[in-house]
Amino acid sequence: MLSLYLLLILYLTQHILTDQCPSTNSCKCSSDLTIISCTNQQLTDEFFLNLDVHFPKSTIVLNLSSNSFSSINSLANLDNLQTLDLSSNKLQSLPANLFSKFPQLSSLYVQNNFLKTIPNTFNEISNINLDLSNNPINCTCQLKWIVKWFETINLRSPINCKEKDFCADKKNFLHITPEQSQIVYENDSFTLKCSANTKVFWTLNNEFYSGASDIFIPRLQSNHSGSWTCHSLNQNRSISLHVLNTQLNHFCQSIQMDTSKGYFYWPRTLTGQTIQIKCPFGSAAWFEYDAHASYMCSKNRQWVDLDLSQCGFRTNISREFDRILSHNQTNLLSKLVTYISKINLDEFQFDDIIFLIDLIDEEQSKYLTSRKNIEEISMLIYRLTDFILQVKQHFPIIKEYQSALNRLRSILEQLLNITNHSWVYVGK
Ligand SMILES: *[C@@H]1O[C@H](CO)[C@@H](O)[C@H](O)[C@H]1NC(C)=O
Ligand SMILES: *[C@@H]1O[C@H](CO)[C@@H](O)[C@H](O)[C@H]1NC(C)=O
Ligand SMILES: *[C@@H]1O[C@H](CO)[C@@H](O)[C@H](O)[C@H]1NC(C)=O
Ligand SMILES: *[C@@H]1O[C@H](CO)[C@@H](O)[C@H](O)[C@H]1NC(C)=O
Ligand SMILES: *[C@@H]1O[C@H](CO)[C@@H](O)[C@H](O)[C@H]1NC(C)=O
Ligand SMILES: *[C@@H]1O[C@H](CO)[C@@H](O)[C@H](O)[C@H]1NC(C)=O
Ligand SMILES: *[C@@H]1O[C@H](CO)[C@@H](O)[C@H](O)[C@H]1NC(C)=O
Ligand SMILES: *[C@@H]1O[C@H](CO)[C@@H](O)[C@H](O)[C@H]1NC(C)=O
Ligand SMILES: *[C@@H]1O[C@H](CO)[C@@H](O)[C@H](O)[C@H]1NC(C)=O
Repeated sequence: MLSLYLLLILYLTQHILTDQCPSTNSCKCSSDLTIISCTNQQLTDEFFLNLDVHFPKSTIVLNLSSNSFSSINSLANLDNLQTLDLSSNKLQSLPANLFSKFPQLSSLYVQNNFLKTIPNTFNEISNINLDLSNNPINCTCQLKWIVKWFETINLRSPINCKEKDFCADKKNFLHITPEQSQIVYENDSFTLKCSANTKVFWTLNNEFYSGASDIFIPRLQSNHSGSWTCHSLNQNRSISLHVLNTQLNHFCQSIQMDTSKGYFYWPRTLTGQTIQIKCPFGSAAWFEYDAHASYMCSKNRQWVDLDLSQCGFRTNISREFDRILSHNQTNLLSKLVTYISKINLDEFQFDDIIFLIDLIDEEQSKYLTSRKNIEEISMLIYRLTDFILQVKQHFPIIKEYQSALNRLRSILEQLLNITNHSWVYVGK
């Protein structure tokens, strides 16, 4: 019985793990298993789920044309695949991660399908031969990017759009940057841009300024203040510029800061204004929207009310700590221990150590006051400390690292004092 079982395992592993031609009658393979062809077989999506269908890792060309596939989401990753022919199927969509499933993909044939749209992740791909013809592509405004994208790839035949234009209002398209009115500073340089599908010109305070679409002003002067308008054939867009003389001293000077949530540059700013900057590492785990950091220049020219709370952390490990924290779980420390015991301690960054020590500090004071579960909490803190001391990195800011470790040491000493452990951790 046992040997039968072993045989079965042997059979399965051989079958699944070694490269061979899919053992169905539907596919033909080249002898070196680089070209696999399963065409014109009325195959449906179930085909990919069949245990017998495992395309060998060596596959370079996979031809699945003239079948009835409606999705290829179940098609396994193929690291060497260069050509994928899915033409004449019933595909309604392509997976957004197509190019990560097939990192070498350079030719994609999807003509004669039912594709209405293209995932916008494809925008990042440039070296690709693509045949997209005979698909009911819905050329909506959201898909406008493909016009530019097609210039960067090798499109084998033009697409036939159902809608005439990508944006219904394309005829009247007129766009300027910056889009919003600005306060600017004397002697700074400044650029205005206008784009449209017809010829444009700029006016300043209703007087002709330039027939160029882009204007570069190397040194702003007070007479550049006013209303700037870009005109196209039948419409216009305006912003106003207010050129300030910095000698009036109504400013907070520009500052920069390097934080565990990234590097921030706060430009010279007028008093009373709050600056918002997009968070460099995205949103904090609790924050669902586009996150921004903000800083205010107070009336007495000091930067105040720095708010980085919406921003995500710079390092992966701190981001994961943040995610664990944001779930508001009670046994937070044991979640941290579980997470940390699974990761490679060499990936720990300085930021992560500080984050962890801050967390331990907070948790410990919570439990010190309530005096509940203190033994259990202490054990978890000792384990976290153990992890921290195992991190053998040379952090650039040694002084801060040492002072963080000292903080940790005094937390431990306090815990040891009240829990009577007969063993003691010795720091570095
Ligand atoms: C896939 O097979 C079809 C039918 O045999 C053939 O016409 C087509 O050229 C093949 N595609 C590629 C990329 O070789
Ligand atoms: C194309 O997309 C627009 C906007 O999303 C939608 O209103 C329209 O019905 C779509 N047309 C087709 C043919 O799917
Ligand atoms: C602003 O004034 C300077 C002289 O002070 C003049 O040379 C320049 O043309 C003026 N610029 C505008 C946009 O009026
Ligand atoms: C800008 O366009 C609006 C209509 O969209 C028009 O009322 C206005 O007079 C135009 N302004 C200029 C400066 O041409
Ligand atoms: C701008 O440059 C001029 C000429 O160099 C100088 O006199 C003026 O003080 C500068 N203005 C500011 C605000 O720096
Ligand atoms: C952080 O995670 C991302 C995605 O999970 C990964 O691509 C990246 O390499 C990681 N960075 C580090 C420093 O481990
Ligand atoms: C998080 O937990 C605290 C106490 O453990 C509780 O007061 C608070 O309401 C919780 N918040 C959420 C969003 O569940
Ligand atoms: C340990 O606890 C005792 C009494 O609770 C206190 O007097 C003593 O200072 C503590 N020692 C340390 C090192 O915290
Ligand atoms: C620690 O030990 C002392 C004396 O040995 C004892 O009085 C005290 O209750 C112990 N504390 C704890 C938390 O076990």
